[in-house]
Amino acid sequence: MSNALTLTVDAGIAVITFDLPNEPVNKFSASVIAEFESLLARIEADTSIKAAVLISGKPDNFIAGADIDAFLDFESAKDAETASATGHKAMERVERSRVPIVAAINGSCLGGGLEVSLACAYRIATENPKTVLALPEVQLGLIPGAGGTQRLPRTVGLQAALDMILTGKNVRAKKALQIGLVDEVVHPSILRDVAIQRAREIANGTRRHEEKKHGAKEMVLEDNPLGRAVVFRQAREMTLKKSRGQYPALLAALEAVAAGFSGTREQGFAAEARLFGEMAATAVSNQLIFLFYATTSLKKDSGVADASVKPLPVKKIGVLGTGFMGAGIAAVSAMQNVPVRFKDMKHEQVGRGLAAARDVLKGRLIKRQVTRQQFEDQLGLISGTIEYTGFGSVPLVIEAVFEDLAVKHQVLAELEPKLPAHAIFASNTSTIPISRIAAGSQRPERVVGMHFFSPVHKMPLLEVIVTPQTAPEVTATVVAFGRKLGKTVIVVNDAPGFFANRILAPYINEAGRMLDEGVPIDVLDKAMLSFGFPVGPVTLLDEVGLDVAGKSGAVMSAAFGDRVQPSAALGKLIASGRLGRKGKKGFYLYDENGKKGGVDESVYAIIGVPQRQQSSPALVQEIQERCALAMVNEAVRCLEEGIVRQPRDGDVGAVFGIGFPPFRGGPYRYADSVGAAELVKRLEALNAKYPGRFVPSARLVAMAADGTRFYPATGKPVG
Ligand code: NAI
Repeated sequence: MSNALTLTVDAGIAVITFDLPNEPVNKFSASVIAEFESLLARIEADTSIKAAVLISGKPDNFIAGADIDAFLDFESAKDAETASATGHKAMERVERSRVPIVAAINGSCLGGGLEVSLACAYRIATENPKTVLALPEVQLGLIPGAGGTQRLPRTVGLQAALDMILTGKNVRAKKALQIGLVDEVVHPSILRDVAIQRAREIANGTRRHEEKKHGAKEMVLEDNPLGRAVVFRQAREMTLKKSRGQYPALLAALEAVAAGFSGTREQGFAAEARLFGEMAATAVSNQLIFLFYATTSLKKDSGVADASVKPLPVKKIGVLGTGFMGAGIAAVSAMQNVPVRFKDMKHEQVGRGLAAARDVLKGRLIKRQVTRQQFEDQLGLISGTIEYTGFGSVPLVIEAVFEDLAVKHQVLAELEPKLPAHAIFASNTSTIPISRIAAGSQRPERVVGMHFFSPVHKMPLLEVIVTPQTAPEVTATVVAFGRKLGKTVIVVNDAPGFFANRILAPYINEAGRMLDEGVPIDVLDKAMLSFGFPVGPVTLLDEVGLDVAGKSGAVMSAAFGDRVQPSAALGKLIASGRLGRKGKKGFYLYDENGKKGGVDESVYAIIGVPQRQQSSPALVQEIQERCALAMVNEAVRCLEEGIVRQPRDGDVGAVFGIGFPPFRGGPYRYADSVGAAELVKRLEALNAKYPGRFVPSARLVAMAADGTRFYPATGKPVG
């Protein structure tokens, strides 16, 4: 038995404290559930106990959900179904308990944590900003399996429940109170006392859990079978459209919720268990669970091999260049309460940068993620200069000036004498090798790359680029700082394109080659959307900017030769003066506000395509194969050359940096799912048709020969 739970009884009220030993958060596992059930049995049997409270012993976590390690032990859908049914029994016991149980929620209350709370007679949440309630199972390709699809709709209404279940989003205490997910919100310091008090009141009949009354519109829709059918149909249509059918758990969750309305109570729970089992056995869930492990393990990775290396404290930063990226970097730093000295050449540029950073921060105020006071305070942390005043005390400068080596060297030369001796110079360059930037430094060991993605406040990845000279302390410091900014950080070695842009280059070029061959723009984009990318490659070119893509393509082809020769189509469009969305003229049409319309048909005349190809399933398959395999093959080369340290980093980098389909796990996970031998066969076939561009990487060939994989076939995918 795990001894995760302790029971104290005072004046007839039992307090169950959940505090899983040696773990930062509370998780449900089979042994914890067994312990919980035996404790409930004791409470039931002890007639001196009138009511109970369930509370956590952790500072900012109530219960984080099920222990995902246990999911790895499922050998079949049936195993997972049985685990869900076991959970149901435990929750049922809570719900039918002789004594009323009050959930006292402080900190994150996720998955199984929320499901046990829903089975309780009363729920109190604290106003602690860390208190969030959610059913995030769909993010792991699963559905709630401990009664969530049955109890949540009954508690908050069908639409609010679907909104939570189908997105997995966090609900804060105030909103939880509004929608009836909790009965009361209190200050954390009085949570325990209030919970005991409420438990006593419910036991002696002086307080009852009040059913939340839903609004008139919701009642019309939800309180009759016809209205519910409308809600389900709309939810299903929207889900299919958004997920393109690639995330089966979304439809399974809808089915489970619907089963709770159409049949008996038992049938609803049985449907949930069955569908949970089916989803746990899907490849999609397997990949999403891998990504969860991969990002979790990256959070513990200092970025350097030597565990004795410690990051330096970064209490203030300098940002050079107040343009698009500089403003984003300044804003995310201020969000973490880190003061920023913000430098550009002219006051008007600084002014523009400050306004852009303000807009990003304002977005959080509008969404009520911060109070006006917090917004004002954070804005006040960014101060501008056109000289280097204030840089004498910054331990880290992030450079985001023009993408031009001479300019980067110029700012480095101006800045270095003014910085503290240990200060770190991090460049946000997207294409210039860091070692070339470092060559202009007096202290090349303090130079590193911090490659943010755009828009900085939305994109979760940070690629840290190190050269052979970069000091380990420098790497550890920027990794720790990137993490503080909320980013998932991968460390890669210095080479043209680093990792993310390197693997993107052959993918984009292959799409460009197909434009040259007369493949229609929308057919290309749709094919890659249905493969699972969030935007198609041609739309991506417009988004990035055709000039930027052209420059980056030139760098990549200079480095990698024929393999990534840019297409003629892109060159012709650039020569015609098109810039993509920022210039409101690209492959697609844009209105005055930059909103994208349909394909700009006049592009075909510029490309000079003799005849446009007809879309067909075979063409779609060829597009997907050429684009995706060019990327996967390049990713394997990056591993071969030591650009990425391990497949985990490359998979996370591809998914979070450039939108590789999460349900495919990343390029290496995808390669494993296809199999090295099959991949080599397909690459060779493509290479016969398009010589030079699809030569299988040596590592893939070796893996095909000895039948090895990037990841173990079973068990925990990463440590
Ligand atoms: P931008 O053109 O919006 O901003 C550059 C800023 O640097 C301008 O405000 C300019 O006045 C300033 N600047 C130029 N020379 C300066 C100097 N000597 N001292 C101080 N400030 C100076 O460019 P953007 O897009 O923000 O790019 C900046 C860097 O970030 C580039 O290296 C780019 O490759 C990289 N990057 C850009 C991404 C993007 O999507 N735009 C993505 C990732 C990296």
